[in-house]
Amino acid sequence: MKSSNRNIVILAAGKSVRMCSKVPKVLHSIGGKMILQHVVDTALSVKKISDIYLICHEENRFLKKIFFNKKIKLIFQKHQLGTGYALRKVMHYFDDGSDIIVLYGDVPLISKETIERLILSKDGSVISLLTAFVKDPNGYGRILRKNGEVVKIIEDIEICQDEWKIKEVYSGIFIANTYFLKKWVHLINNENIQKEYRLTDIVALASEERCKISTIYPMESIEIHGINNLFQLMNLEKRYQERQAKKLLLSGLMISDISRFDLRGKIKYGKDVYIDNDVMIVGKVILGNDVYIGSGCILKDCTISENSIIHPYTIIENSIVSKDCTVGPFTYLRNNSVLKERSEVGNFVEIKNTIFGSHSKAKHLSYLGDSTVGSHVNIGAGVITCNYDGANKFQTHIEDNVFIGSDSQLVAPITIQKNATIGAGTTLTRDVKENDLVISRIRQKHIKNWKGTLKK
Ligand code: UD1
Ligand code: CA
Repeated sequence: MKSSNRNIVILAAGKSVRMCSKVPKVLHSIGGKMILQHVVDTALSVKKISDIYLICHEENRFLKKIFFNKKIKLIFQKHQLGTGYALRKVMHYFDDGSDIIVLYGDVPLISKETIERLILSKDGSVISLLTAFVKDPNGYGRILRKNGEVVKIIEDIEICQDEWKIKEVYSGIFIANTYFLKKWVHLINNENIQKEYRLTDIVALASEERCKISTIYPMESIEIHGINNLFQLMNLEKRYQERQAKKLLLSGLMISDISRFDLRGKIKYGKDVYIDNDVMIVGKVILGNDVYIGSGCILKDCTISENSIIHPYTIIENSIVSKDCTVGPFTYLRNNSVLKERSEVGNFVEIKNTIFGSHSKAKHLSYLGDSTVGSHVNIGAGVITCNYDGANKFQTHIEDNVFIGSDSQLVAPITIQKNATIGAGTTLTRDVKENDLVISRIRQKHIKNWKGTLKK
């Protein structure tokens, strides 16, 4: 069936040779999100678009599952013969009277606003191009103008003489009328250094036909940055992160150093939140009022409630820290753990799938896994829940006001009822009743004048 009005085509089937990676460039990430996903999400946000045609390489058929949306049509390109050849593959889907917007899958930060301005700019012309003036035009096609009018795009590899001076580059993004585009994509050939069918050759064809070619610039230069190699990927990530950090700073999140902050997902935050250097935020993170995040922390899909302090080098994943807690340094919280109000968890403590009660403390060198810990519990240094017997996992339940002496092992399944005390160095294998004291170590012996072992 033919699509009318206005459609978007995203070209993402290239070979990615310059990446020197097994992974195609469009599947790498910027800000924790797949490069191609950035482009697809933006395309979906543009108003009044009939369909989105996504051209991918045959080897990436799995993308069908990722881009499962009735507006997105996946087209698979078998032979990677160039951008012009890729577009040929879809032209028969479109009505002559419609418009086609072409986006490149490796230009991830194009904005909805710029695409909408590009649509408006086509008014009265056959084709409108998104171009930009950049300090370093290397790698981009250059816009050749005569008397101000665009006449040609010269590919980087074919630049000669004075063309080096041209600073206006082509983004790869344009809108054109389908009738003309159909004609031009079938006229382009591969008689060039790369032996590729280049989509950019349509610009010279349009100029020869005296069709009106318009151009617009993006709102921000970062929008036209293409990713062809790992250096460009790293650079764009850096600029993307700095742009995000600046936006957050301007809307009230204190980040100590804009160049030492990474957001790979989404963050919600209250007032007077402070984030120290080298913190990484991944997935969905919520930070309440007056939260402090020390340097080097990694927070992934978690909530830290108001007034809590996370000391340096703490990792928190899929967990909740309630208000007024103190965590870290060097704590690891994971797998649906919850720290309740005013609890304290200190250095080298790992907490997994555990509800840790209010006012409770585990300040040094512990592992608490698959447990529930009541309120006002003290977990001494080096306490371990032995939750795994090599085949299955078991639960540990520690009720309110329990004191567990240092270096004790709690062999699960086990329950320690409220107000119980476990002496240091206990290997606990049976449940403990309310108010009991358990001591399992041998009586201390003293041998007088012990000589030690002599060397032979
Ligand atoms: C292209 C432009 C260049 C422009 C630059 C902007 C061409 C010939 N040149 O160069 O003028 O300045 O983008 O970033 O278009 N692709 C396919 N099938 C193919 C070949 C490529 O789908 O057979 C896709 C790629 O996955 C990529 C996009 O098309 O997403 C652009 O291809 P690429 O090889 O990266 O072109 P550039 O050399 O960057
Ligand atoms: Ca490119």
